[in-house]
Amino acid sequence: MNSNQIDGLREALKHSPDNVPLRKMLAEALFGLTQYEEAEKEYREALRFAPADNSLKLGLAETFLRAGKTSAAQVVAEEILDAEANNAAAIMILSKLAFEKDDVKAAKDLYDKAVKLDSTVENVNYTNDLNQKLKDSGMAMSYIIDEQLNDLLLSSDIEKPKISFADVGGMESIKEEIALKVIHPIKNPEIYKAFGKKTGGGVLLYGPPGCGKTMLARATAGEINAHFISVGINEVLDMWIGSSERNLHDLFDQARMNTPCVLFFDEVDALGASRTDMRKAAGRFLINQFLDEMDGVKYSNDGILILGATNCPWYLDAAFRRPGRFDRIVFVEPPDKLAREEILKLTLKDKPIENIDYSGLAKLMEDYSGADIKAVIDISIEAKLPESIKLGRVIPVTNADIKNAINRHKATTREWFATAKNYALYSNESGLYDDILRYLKIKK
Ligand SMILES: Nc1ncnc2c1ncn2[C@@H]1O[C@H](COP(=O)(O)OP(=O)(O)O)[C@@H](O)[C@H]1O
Ligand SMILES: [Mg+2]
Repeated sequence: MNSNQIDGLREALKHSPDNVPLRKMLAEALFGLTQYEEAEKEYREALRFAPADNSLKLGLAETFLRAGKTSAAQVVAEEILDAEANNAAAIMILSKLAFEKDDVKAAKDLYDKAVKLDSTVENVNYTNDLNQKLKDSGMAMSYIIDEQLNDLLLSSDIEKPKISFADVGGMESIKEEIALKVIHPIKNPEIYKAFGKKTGGGVLLYGPPGCGKTMLARATAGEINAHFISVGINEVLDMWIGSSERNLHDLFDQARMNTPCVLFFDEVDALGASRTDMRKAAGRFLINQFLDEMDGVKYSNDGILILGATNCPWYLDAAFRRPGRFDRIVFVEPPDKLAREEILKLTLKDKPIENIDYSGLAKLMEDYSGADIKAVIDISIEAKLPESIKLGRVIPVTNADIKNAINRHKATTREWFATAKNYALYSNESGLYDDILRYLKIKK
């Protein structure tokens, strides 16, 4: 971010000083520019409005750490851990503080703990520094990480999902679409080549939360026994702010080295968000970088399936939708009655149950997302626990239990449609959101 953009942000904050996310952006940008004093000021100001916000405290603690204010960093990190004992980033700060005090053993232990809690805090440079220092201090033997292990750590966020399409209820046409667009080209490259069909590009899934976008992406990898790399909104923003060790290019490279691989961008709107000018500025830089990688002109993306998911497609930069990019935009709608039945069956599989009327229950759950259905089942199982414990044996969940739970957990997708409807009606360029209108049974 340059100083103009920072000024723009400050200007925006003048009009809405209590906009905490905006102020956080400013603080993070200042941090990225190593203007720690200024960053500290903004973090403190944001915390005035949101005193319990641990992510702000974390930003403040990191700012203190970089600025050499070690005791202040210590105090804030401990405060975070008081509220959230397993906050890996805060533990990481304590590790670095210990490192600076030459307490290598403590630094190493804290670091290991943090990485175990959250593999994304893994940092190769820091690992090397720690090992070097341990070696210097003569107790390295048990700690030196050999190359193999190091590789493992580097790829610790690559997984091989065990779920496949069969574990995802409903969505038959979407599964087919994904198979056509991304799975077949990977499995049968020579056929596609023979017909001169271009491969590449990605599929963007959008729709209300909890309807299985993330799950489906993971299942896509499982379906073809591919690796799966998932990148979230925060990580991507970190890349932009520059506080992340990784960048988009490394990420794509990682996928290229692990083909076949599903590279999944979750909540991809963060990249192209146009909610505020500020986000736009953040987006521009990343978008170009992203499109560069995705176009596969400079680098080959053979064997990489690119999937994205978002709840808010309207924030996505139009540049993403050109051919060769996310050129299939797929609406993941709430499950219909049959799909709900299937999700019920999948969720209740291997659970102690008795006389379940799947069809009847599915009928009662109109507009329920897959996550809602799962929540209903969780509630009905929990309700059965006390009795089971008291009697010392498993009391099965009944149809009535689930009906009760349905009454206690309402559908969460309606709110999303209230927003989506406006976009579909008033900013539906080239019929992008026709699927939403169709779902809502609104005629154009
Ligand atoms: N179609 C589905 N079949 C089975 N489970 C589902 C389905 N949709 C959602 N779920 C359940 O809800 C959870 C949340 O879904 P998720 O994929 O995270 O939704 P989204 O990414 O669309 O917000 C999943 O982990 C799964 O347990
Ligand atoms: Mg998701």
